[in-house]
Amino acid sequence: MRKRCSLVGMPGSGKSTVGRQLARRLNVPFIDLDQRLEEVLGATIRQYFEERGEEAFREREAQLLAELTAAPGDMILSTGGGAVLREDNRTRLLAGGGSVMYLRATPDEIYKRIRHDKTRPLLQVANPLQRLRELYATRDPLYRAASHYVIETGRPTVNTLVNMIVMQL
Ligand code: S3P
Repeated sequence: MRKRCSLVGMPGSGKSTVGRQLARRLNVPFIDLDQRLEEVLGATIRQYFEERGEEAFREREAQLLAELTAAPGDMILSTGGGAVLREDNRTRLLAGGGSVMYLRATPDEIYKRIRHDKTRPLLQVANPLQRLRELYATRDPLYRAASHYVIETGRPTVNTLVNMIVMQL
């Protein structure tokens, strides 16, 4: 079994939670792209968005993703929800991210999970549910294009999701 796997999906789809548990199960390093970025940027993602704008953030995100997917070895990589927006990121994930899993959740499910979360810059708008629906409409095809498998996250527990992923590795 290859213990190299990347997770893509909407903000709040469970990438970090599932990724951390999957890494623990497989006993391999867990890398959270957003967390690494915050270390590299010396700022929270929210601060960086506010101060430098989304384009600057996407540039740094692409650089770090390129480094991580080029480095060999076992890992579980949890990406940020917008990492699939750039075509070269999608190509890099498919080629160097190991098995790429799309954790699919509907906008309504996500809204229930993260409606009180203030750390996600894209959702600090008057109508976050509407925003999630718009994001989902444009991104669902991109998550599919950037992944090898789609994992439906609706009902299963985190543990079950980890089992489902392990079966595909
Ligand atoms: C973003 C998702 C965030 C983070 C940034 C942008 C997006 O990651 O990278 O706020 O464009 O969907 P999560 O998916 O971990 O929330």
